[in-house]
Amino acid sequence: MDTSNYLKDNIRTVPDWPAPGVQFRDITPLLQDPRVFRVLIDAFVHRYMTPELRPTVVAGLDARGFIIGSVVAYELGLGFVPIRKKGKLPFTTVEETYELEYGSATVELHTDAVKAGDRVLLIDDLIATGGTMMAGARLLEKLGATVMEGAAIVDLPELGGSARLKASGLPLFTLVNFA
Ligand code: PRP
Ligand code: HPA
Repeated sequence: MDTSNYLKDNIRTVPDWPAPGVQFRDITPLLQDPRVFRVLIDAFVHRYMTPELRPTVVAGLDARGFIIGSVVAYELGLGFVPIRKKGKLPFTTVEETYELEYGSATVELHTDAVKAGDRVLLIDDLIATGGTMMAGARLLEKLGATVMEGAAIVDLPELGGSARLKASGLPLFTLVNFA
């Protein structure tokens, strides 16, 4: 079986959570089984250890992007920077607000997290509308860094996020697709 199908078989779908009609793709089984967790992390590490795709720093999106992103950064021998929901980071920050289905959300990044010239790998667990990853990319760019690629375990293409991110010029890499 290929890696994508192996990982897909280990994602749990929870119907009607957090709201009726939603099919929630739960990645926690991928983390719970040490063999699956290793296959997952290695899929990212092998891609980003190739010299053309090697970043200078890894950024992760709050909160599930931290779980994957920090391990990938560690394995690549790179630093990790967290992009957090507003109100959690103690030092000076840049912030970016984006629209949700109902209301809006704001994410923040420490001003010294990246610098001009950095080539950042931006990691999250899942792309739905793409709003979270787009906001994260904007924060990194505000500090003069280049987002060399956005990466996630899961893409939900029907929600249009991956197409929107690619149309904005952000290269995107995902392992599993729930079309
Ligand atoms: C989920 C998911 C992504 C984001 C994807 O996070 O982990 O970060 O939503 O949605 P989007 O593409 O429409 O922006 P959530 O806000 O539920 O936070 P959590 O990781 O803290 O649970
Ligand atoms: N799973 C996990 N996170 C999500 C989902 C989902 O199906 N949709 C939006 N964020």
